[in-house]
Amino acid sequence: MKTIKPIARQVLATTATIVAAIGASVITATPAFAQSYPSKPITWIVPFAAGGPTDALARNIAERVSREVGQSIIIDNSPGAGGTVGATKAARAAADGYTMLVGHMGYMGAAPALYKKLSYDPVKDFAPVFRFPDTPMVLMVRKEHPAKTVGELVDYGRKNPGKLFISNAGMGSTSHLVAALFAASAGMKVSLVPYKGAGPALIDVIGGQVDGMFDQTNTALPQITEAKVRPLAVTSATRVAQLKDVPTLAETVLPGFEAATWYGIYAPKGTPQPVIDKMQQAYLKVMTDKAFTTKLAAQAIQMLPPEQYTAAALGKHTEAEVARWKVVATKANITLD
Ligand code: MLT
Repeated sequence: MKTIKPIARQVLATTATIVAAIGASVITATPAFAQSYPSKPITWIVPFAAGGPTDALARNIAERVSREVGQSIIIDNSPGAGGTVGATKAARAAADGYTMLVGHMGYMGAAPALYKKLSYDPVKDFAPVFRFPDTPMVLMVRKEHPAKTVGELVDYGRKNPGKLFISNAGMGSTSHLVAALFAASAGMKVSLVPYKGAGPALIDVIGGQVDGMFDQTNTALPQITEAKVRPLAVTSATRVAQLKDVPTLAETVLPGFEAATWYGIYAPKGTPQPVIDKMQQAYLKVMTDKAFTTKLAAQAIQMLPPEQYTAAALGKHTEAEVARWKVVATKANITLD
């Protein structure tokens, strides 16, 4: 082996020391940064009024994740335009890890196909952090409505065009999209009534001001249990254990129909990777807590395989959904502006 002259050996040794020091400083910089984050409360923007399914699920998960990261997570309800107002606010927030978006299928999947002038891009303007479990939806009507089955409701809707008033959380929300797809597929002309969230929309079904709506199971189930509304069908491929006598749309009026709302936490593009890693790690740990996931499953929330909860998986899912909704919206002729 060629011997190295002493001076060269000296230079090499010094270089090695410098590299080690840089390496160490880079390594200490990342853990130090990651260790210091979060050093103050984090805000999660929920782009719907409080009391709806997105708000309820976000608060459930935020409470557990905040315990893991050691800082409170504050829910900022910023409703409007089917969730796109809040999504725009999040896209424009500082990319410092202290503002994130609670995204979902509507404004982070379908919106680019529905809004010609959308002020953000779900893929380019955000960094995915982690995905929540999905929630199927229940079609419910006000107690006094004559329809006792989904078949009778479709019959009523066909015979009374425009006279079936279906509330939703704003144009482009999942309660709007699923209702629009349901009406189009069942050959009905219904009147879609937008609210600032599914929470207020459901209150008016209970009060009888509107005829019905599609709402996620986590907020629908308590109202159904208390017989404040009548469930007619679920949107999942198979029946929901908590509503075993309620048929799916697929087995009744719309063979092959299936819909569930997906959600995810997104940070503004440019948010440091150690922030995303730390939040993702905290969440993945929460989702291994059996007591917690059992509580969610009791709301008919659909757990996913763990690998689908990651930032990478949410990023791929978002891209696929943006592409899928371009096809669905064209086929169902749904546009909003
Ligand atoms: C929707 O219908 O898109 C949302 O789930 C509404 C909400 O969560 O309030």
